[in-house]
Amino acid sequence: MGRATKVVLAYSGGVDTSVCIPYLKKEYGVEEVITFAADLGQGDELEPIRHKAIAAGASESLVGDLIKPFIEDFAFPAIRANALYEGRYPLSTALARPLIASSLVDVARKVKADAVAHGCTGKGNDQVRFDVAIASLAPELKVLTPAREWGMSREEAIAYGEQFGIPAPVSKKSPYSIDLNLLGRSIEAGSLEDPMQTPPEEVFAITSSIDNAPDKPQEIEILFDAGNPIAIDGESLDPVALIRKANLLAGTHGFGRLDIIENRVVGIKSREIYETPGLLLLIKAHQELESLTLSADVLRIKHQLEREWSDLVYKGLWFTSLRTALDGFFERTQSHVNGLVRIRLHKGNAIILGRSSITNSLYRPSMATYGLDDQFDHKAAEGFIYIWGLPSRIWAAVKNAQKIN
Ligand code: ARG
Repeated sequence: MGRATKVVLAYSGGVDTSVCIPYLKKEYGVEEVITFAADLGQGDELEPIRHKAIAAGASESLVGDLIKPFIEDFAFPAIRANALYEGRYPLSTALARPLIASSLVDVARKVKADAVAHGCTGKGNDQVRFDVAIASLAPELKVLTPAREWGMSREEAIAYGEQFGIPAPVSKKSPYSIDLNLLGRSIEAGSLEDPMQTPPEEVFAITSSIDNAPDKPQEIEILFDAGNPIAIDGESLDPVALIRKANLLAGTHGFGRLDIIENRVVGIKSREIYETPGLLLLIKAHQELESLTLSADVLRIKHQLEREWSDLVYKGLWFTSLRTALDGFFERTQSHVNGLVRIRLHKGNAIILGRSSITNSLYRPSMATYGLDDQFDHKAAEGFIYIWGLPSRIWAAVKNAQKIN
């Protein structure tokens, strides 16, 4: 394996990825490091991040605006799939990785780099997601992973960076490892490593605590078209604006915090704190509308496939035939998922108050009612139950006969 001369590094502006710049040059003999920072709506100032990369020795510092594809091509499919890893985590970080990887590959091809690099450590999921995605999209590219190999603690990495003029982070005292994008935040490390420790309020940034959430509840209505949320409270919103609004509404009322023990791809359990207010709210509303508009058997199979989809996205298998095949199934179901869901937001809760679908509701009042309009044929139940219960009665009869003998 020859040496890489020109490398495109996935860059966040944090310590690890900044230290990667001099490290790649000095320890790996790379001549030119070009950084690529993805704007995923994390709200960071990207201009200072660009300068930071240059100051750390990058020859070029690029920024890609990925917000729209992130929401339209990754978040919305996840909502349609009701994607929750292990039934709880809505994949806010995991969904961003295949998009960053494919942009990194595009940039590498454009600038004719012979390798890409990332600053993921060797015990996380993100390394798996990047490496697998890059290998699928561009097998010809080498992937350099300095942070997986250097074996430095955070303090040592900071000290290494200081030698090359990389300033120690202002928040040196902040012990947390944070990942952030428009879908939410993930917070790890520090005191959170003790699973019994209550997360300190300072770790949260986009959701209110229950104490600070408004005393007055707020009722909202979310409109879906073919499984996509398209309006909140009657206001049509493009996907990015809709996610922002959902984040604000749910976050204000303290809905969308998670504190979970999660099973990582590399086999360890980790304690994860998330704030994903909008995404969790929209998935909840979407599930509710599906319960009204999809048949019982489709719902049952879809639930199983949702689990598969969430698992493979978590495990870095976005660019696979199974993922696209599952999306094909979901897409076919979603043309029926049209309608409105009404929700009350209050003190950390999102309570479903009602759901309706003018075109696709499978709820038949004449079948469900206990009133005078009831059209269900009660007598037909008898014959149905006779046949339904036949195997049970035969089984019981045989068992009883054995006991007597
Ligand atoms: N455990 C989450 C996941 O695997 C969050 C990872 C956060 N990544 C990070 N580099 N801080 O999706």
